[in-house]
Amino acid sequence: MKNYLKGNLYSNTAGLYDYDNRNIIKDDLDFYVEYANKTNGEILELASGTGRVSLYVAEKTGRKLECIELSEKMVERFNHKLQTTHKYLQKNINIQTGDMADFKFDREFEYIIIPWRALQYLPETEQAIKCLSNVYNHLSDNGLFVFDIFKPRTYDDKWIGREDVSYDIMADGKRIIRSTVNYSADTINRNIQYKTKYRIIDDGKETVTEDLLTYKYYERDEIVDILKMTGLTVKEEYGYYDKRTIADGDEMIFICGKLFDS
Ligand SMILES: C[S@@+](CC[C@H](N)C(=O)[O-])C[C@H]1O[C@@H](n2cnc3c(N)ncnc32)[C@H](O)[C@@H]1O
Repeated sequence: MKNYLKGNLYSNTAGLYDYDNRNIIKDDLDFYVEYANKTNGEILELASGTGRVSLYVAEKTGRKLECIELSEKMVERFNHKLQTTHKYLQKNINIQTGDMADFKFDREFEYIIIPWRALQYLPETEQAIKCLSNVYNHLSDNGLFVFDIFKPRTYDDKWIGREDVSYDIMADGKRIIRSTVNYSADTINRNIQYKTKYRIIDDGKETVTEDLLTYKYYERDEIVDILKMTGLTVKEEYGYYDKRTIADGDEMIFICGKLFDS
């Protein structure tokens, strides 16, 4: 197992993932439904995690979803959530443990999504190219592919070592403080690493759980070139889920289709 993989599969922190209450984890939900409604048929979601987006999209659209997720711990959480929800959702959602860079179905999809920066969990460009080529191969001619990545920040000496608290909440009788601790930046290969760190204070006792996440980051033109190389073209692009421009937002959200004149 490559050393980055363990952290990127939330080996230690999968059980804490769904405590996240930030707006950015809610604002994308209706966005993915809006574009689902422009398409028909089964939906394919790559790196579906604990089913945060999958369950919402399945419920709002009444459509079937195929979900691929590599982390057994995240799949376990997703299955648990699925088992405790409506029967029709259990019937409509299929979860497979698999790699978003290497998957195969015997059919095409009109709607393929990779929400919440998950494409960046493939730390090498070759893996992203494999993933996007597979997306192309599984996308209908009139299909839509929607994904989100973050806009790169400045990764200098001031960035490394900084800790930022993402949220500090009371849940299930415990205080949960989630932070990110910047760990390393490779500005040549465009990889950053940070720890996702949870301090859990329960009955006066504190425990700390963390995973080291490794991301690939892209400038806007770089990812657009990679998309083009794999036969995909950008139809719309936004800087956040309220559809502000990339120049005005911290995210880069792309709505893509197939490029026919390549
Ligand atoms: C930030 S989470 C996003 C999860 C989900 N899409 C969401 O929006 O809540 C990134 C997910 O990518 C998964 N992942 C990492 N590498 C993967 C790979 N090669 N193939 C499939 N899933 C992967 C992780 O296990 C994790 O569940």
